[in-house]
Amino acid sequence: MPSSVRFLTVRMFSLLLLLFIHLRACHSSPSIHPQCHDEESHALLQFKQSLAINESASFDPSAYPKVASWKVDGESGDCCSWDGVECDRDSGHVIGLDLSSSFLYGSIDSNSTLFHLVHLRRLNLADNDFNNSEIPSEIRNLPRLFDLNLSMSLFSGQIPAEILELSKLVSIDLGLNSLKLQKPGLQHLVEALTNLEVLHLSGVDISAKGEFPMGIFQLPNLRFLRIRSNPYLTGYLPEFQSGSQLELLMLGGSGTSFSGLRLTNLYGEIPSCLGNLTQLAVLKLHKNKLAGQIPSWIGNHTLFISLGLGPNRLHGPIPESIFRLPNLEELDLQKNLFRGTVNVGLLRSRSLVSFQLSGNNLSVIGNINDSIALPKFQILGLGGCNLSGEFPSFLHGQNHLEFVELGGNQIEGHIPKWFMNLGTETLWHLDLSGNFLTGFEQSVDILPWNNLRDLKLSGNKLEGALPIPPRSIISYMVSDNRLTGEIPQAICNLPSLVFLQLSSNNLSSKLPQCLGNISHSASVLDLRNNSFSGDIPDSFSNDCTLRAIDFSQNQFEGKIPRSLANCAELEILNIEKNKINDVFPSWLGIFPKLRVLILRSNRLHGVIGKPRANFEFQRLQIVDLSDNCFRALDLSQNKLTGEIPVQLAQLTFLAVFNVSGNVLSGPIPRGNQFDTFDRTSFDANPGLCGKPLSRKCGNGEDSLLAAKRDEGSAAYPLEFGWKVVVIGYASGLVIGVILGCVMDTRKYEWLVKNYFARWQR
Ligand SMILES: *[C@@H]1O[C@H](CO)[C@@H](O)[C@H](O)[C@H]1NC(C)=O
Ligand SMILES: *[C@@H]1O[C@H](CO)[C@@H](O)[C@H](O)[C@H]1NC(C)=O
Ligand SMILES: *[C@@H]1O[C@H](CO)[C@@H](O)[C@H](O)[C@H]1NC(C)=O
Ligand SMILES: *[C@@H]1O[C@H](CO)[C@@H](O)[C@H](O)[C@H]1NC(C)=O
Ligand SMILES: *[C@@H]1O[C@H](CO)[C@@H](O)[C@H](O)[C@H]1NC(C)=O
Ligand SMILES: *[C@@H]1O[C@H](CO)[C@@H](O)[C@H](O)[C@H]1NC(C)=O
Ligand SMILES: *[C@@H]1O[C@H](CO)[C@@H](O)[C@H](O)[C@H]1NC(C)=O
Ligand SMILES: *[C@@H]1O[C@H](CO)[C@@H](O)[C@H](O)[C@H]1NC(C)=O
Ligand SMILES: *[C@@H]1O[C@H](CO)[C@@H](O)[C@H](O)[C@H]1NC(C)=O
Ligand SMILES: *[C@@H]1O[C@H](CO)[C@@H](O)[C@H](O)[C@H]1NC(C)=O
Ligand SMILES: *[C@@H]1O[C@H](CO)[C@@H](O)[C@H](O)[C@H]1NC(C)=O
Ligand SMILES: *[C@@H]1O[C@H](CO)[C@@H](O)[C@H](O)[C@H]1NC(C)=O
Repeated sequence: MPSSVRFLTVRMFSLLLLLFIHLRACHSSPSIHPQCHDEESHALLQFKQSLAINESASFDPSAYPKVASWKVDGESGDCCSWDGVECDRDSGHVIGLDLSSSFLYGSIDSNSTLFHLVHLRRLNLADNDFNNSEIPSEIRNLPRLFDLNLSMSLFSGQIPAEILELSKLVSIDLGLNSLKLQKPGLQHLVEALTNLEVLHLSGVDISAKGEFPMGIFQLPNLRFLRIRSNPYLTGYLPEFQSGSQLELLMLGGSGTSFSGLRLTNLYGEIPSCLGNLTQLAVLKLHKNKLAGQIPSWIGNHTLFISLGLGPNRLHGPIPESIFRLPNLEELDLQKNLFRGTVNVGLLRSRSLVSFQLSGNNLSVIGNINDSIALPKFQILGLGGCNLSGEFPSFLHGQNHLEFVELGGNQIEGHIPKWFMNLGTETLWHLDLSGNFLTGFEQSVDILPWNNLRDLKLSGNKLEGALPIPPRSIISYMVSDNRLTGEIPQAICNLPSLVFLQLSSNNLSSKLPQCLGNISHSASVLDLRNNSFSGDIPDSFSNDCTLRAIDFSQNQFEGKIPRSLANCAELEILNIEKNKINDVFPSWLGIFPKLRVLILRSNRLHGVIGKPRANFEFQRLQIVDLSDNCFRALDLSQNKLTGEIPVQLAQLTFLAVFNVSGNVLSGPIPRGNQFDTFDRTSFDANPGLCGKPLSRKCGNGEDSLLAAKRDEGSAAYPLEFGWKVVVIGYASGLVIGVILGCVMDTRKYEWLVKNYFARWQR
């Protein structure tokens, strides 16, 4: 993604840049410039002093603190020579201020001396951190502004009406802030600022009335329009007059629906009137609800550089003429309903670098002969494109690859040697999941892509030893394969690793002692369903960042490692089905964020003690201690008796509840999730009554239930063996809550008081 943005930006702004450089060159004639005006010099310095320099305030890697060089004394005392400051050559007034990406941090108040620079024509403060300042209404003091750029600089609030007074504005970029343009609205803006050629409002909330402001297209000079990410905006596009200057139209994610019928139509088609925009080079309509087919005129627009139509609901075949657009660099048709066959051998767009067809119902074909004529892709998305047989040979020679998605196809056999030599310095994303791949043709200690960050190999038939990714890796998923052998030590030497998923293979032996090394950076460690044995290494680091650990379904022995206590961020811990032999780990109670604790089917023993302090297990939502040797316990049978405690109705997270086939009796609790469970949850319990069962409770039973409700959660008398079985799925995780057992009332009370009550929060 970054690269596609980069190349477009470079291409589209290079012309402007050239023009700018040219103008600058003309200006640097040897005549003597007037010096900067004292009051402006003073205002600039005051502005500098009102802000801090903070390296986390800018994202651009080439950012640096431009104001650092601003000084009043010595040769550099003339503010016209300061970095980012531009003066008029005749009057000496400051007319341009470019402090974009300058590490500026702090608030801009209404008394900021920035607004003393009344001669400013260009102001660029993009990519800084103004700490959620509102744009002060004093912006009206800069009436000569024609270029205003505040993008990505943490401004917030409503854009002030005073901006409408800046009637000279030609270009406005307020994108990527949490700004609102509602009062005034976009319509006011375009009525007041008739010189606008460039309008970037991506992420600015302009959805006051939800209607797409038609007036925007009456701006005679508008060339660039970017209003992405306005999910509540709806509307339709007007008829474009031929002769419109529009070169770039980005409405992605606006929810805008289109129709040439002048009616709002949620499932509109790509309007034919866009065909009149003969200057259009960039058309991005991502994430809308466009339906219908791609109109054939699109292939006639030879100026197209970028065409982004996915995800939408477009269907039908992709017109071949699109593949012949001579200037096309980016084609994104992913996640639509296109069908038919795409023969990559027909691609004639020589400069195409980003080609995304994933997530349609397409069959992509091609062979090694096509590889000679193909453009060099950087971004290639062919996920779920019915590629079958051996590794797609048309990728031969693609040595610029950065992002490759080939998941969900039927590719078989080895990942060939020639592919392993491609993109060794450029590839950062590789998705080969969900194929029938068996391994790498060439065995290597470490995979050869030196900048790989994201590797998905899950759901294949990979055999042999675990492939080790390079040091650059952030996310590595290789679950559901047939990998065997032990985890090599090299896995401990991945300093950026965040996500490691090795589940459902047949990896075995002890874990390397150094595995704790990855806890410096990793968030997720999933080793579920392998054949690991021995102790879990007691080497979680002091600065452990792990949030989810799944060691379940292995042969681990010994104790739960005490160094796990270093992992203060831990939310999920699953060690189900191992041979862990330990007492109840009440010390896990200190984890402030622990939500899911599954210790089922181990050899845990002893007494489940009362928490020592109220803050323990604060967020715990799911606990499964069943099938252990705790004393509080007999879980060999599922003969639940007695009534369902009303307190269970307070467990708002319960998605699935099943106590069918027991000998429960009495009324079914009501409220919260309980109202959503159907009859099958309670079937075959002869004594149960009330909704959703057809058997009505007698009056006595109803009032009993009411009485129990009144008693509150702490006082429920529990005199019977009780076991609740809840089986469900939440984000792929099996949730089991089994509590219970033969517990005396006091224990149940603390459970209710200390756990259940908190679960509601
Ligand atoms: C630097 O800016 C970040 C936000 O961008 C802020 O969280 C941090 O506190 C600032 N540091 C200093 C020293 O002001
Ligand atoms: C940033 O804003 C917060 C909240 O308004 C304020 O407390 C803090 O002082 C501001 N920091 C700077 C550097 O202006
Ligand atoms: C601007 O006003 C704020 C209070 O609103 C004050 O703290 C600050 O010193 C003033 N800055 C200048 C340059 O006067
Ligand atoms: C605004 O400035 C940023 C950072 O310099 C730049 O990326 C962006 O293209 C500018 N916007 C316009 C419309 O020129
Ligand atoms: C294209 O422009 C012409 C001339 O301005 C206009 O008559 C026609 O309606 C437009 N076509 C569409 C489809 O908007
Ligand atoms: C595309 O261009 C061809 C040749 O110039 C022309 O015959 C055809 O009508 C055009 N198609 C559309 C839909 O405009
Ligand atoms: C995909 O296309 C095939 C035939 O080409 C069709 O049978 C199938 O239903 C389509 N699937 C979807 C989800 O449209
Ligand atoms: C590739 O081209 C050669 C020569 O034109 C031809 O003999 C061969 O069959 C082609 N191979 C494929 C797979 O199409
Ligand atoms: C997938 O490709 C096979 C040939 O490899 C073809 O028989 C099948 O129809 C294709 N499926 C779809 C949905 O196009
Ligand atoms: C642990 O990580 C550090 C830093 O990444 C690395 O220098 C060290 O070699 C690693 N230890 C092992 C055993 O790989
Ligand atoms: C465990 O992994 C094997 C493959 O190694 C798989 O067939 C099986 O379905 C997995 N079981 C579970 C419960 O995930
Ligand atoms: C997993 O590997 C072990 C040997 O390490 C072997 O005994 C076992 O049968 C294998 N399991 C499967 C499902 O292949």
